[in-house]
Amino acid sequence: MLNIVLFGPPGAGKGTQAKKLLEKYGLRHLSTGDMLRAEIASGSDLGNQVKAVMESGALVSDDIVNQIVESQINANKDEKGFIFDGYPRTTQQAGKLDEFLDGVGPVRAMVYMHVPDEVLIDRLVKRARGKDDTEEVIRERIIAYNEETLPVADFYEKQGKLFKVNGVGTMEEVNERLCEAFDQISAAV
Ligand code: AP5
Ligand code: MG
Repeated sequence: MLNIVLFGPPGAGKGTQAKKLLEKYGLRHLSTGDMLRAEIASGSDLGNQVKAVMESGALVSDDIVNQIVESQINANKDEKGFIFDGYPRTTQQAGKLDEFLDGVGPVRAMVYMHVPDEVLIDRLVKRARGKDDTEEVIRERIIAYNEETLPVADFYEKQGKLFKVNGVGTMEEVNERLCEAFDQISAAV
């Protein structure tokens, strides 16, 4: 499998760009944020359990997201590969992901979209997707990202798997930069 982690802070453009990359590279999109929002919308027990945490800007527990990802991987082992979006978000999750992919193909690369905080806040306040897109909660999300998620980039850098891409520019410009990275990664397989 060609498994790629699309990484970056809240509002970096991971979801927007993943949708464009899927078709071109024949990969499956796995967004833990989208899946958690779907649980909330369905009114399931799990949704009710995670709602308040998500609305506060904090991370949902590793156990909950790991379970979601494990079942998605197990159900899609015949696919060409995954674009992981919003996962792994802690080093604990990164270790678990390696276990879940054991036997089907490791994470080949992390593509890190870098965008400064002011641009992130501006994009997310304008988007206003839900209660977590207010400036106050966006700042909480950025704090959670800096404290708990950034170490995941080191985890992949140590393995020589980190590709950095400038995430500022038009969607087309960013897409071109990402495609360069994805081409390089898929050529190396
Ligand atoms: P999640 O849904 O993953 O949110 P996020 O990563 O914090 O941020 P976004 O999805 O908002 O940003 P994005 O990078 O996808 O940007 P987008 O393309 O939307 O997570 C939400 C919550 O779920 C977390 O806070 C946590 O509670 C929980 N959660 C999820 N995964 C978890 C995990 N693994 N562990 C624990 N908890 C987890 O773009 C943003 C906006 O910018 C859009 O309006 C877009 O149109 C615009 N835009 C995009 N690109 C550009 C551009 N180039 N120029 C101008 N505007 C642009
Ligand atoms: Mg997203």
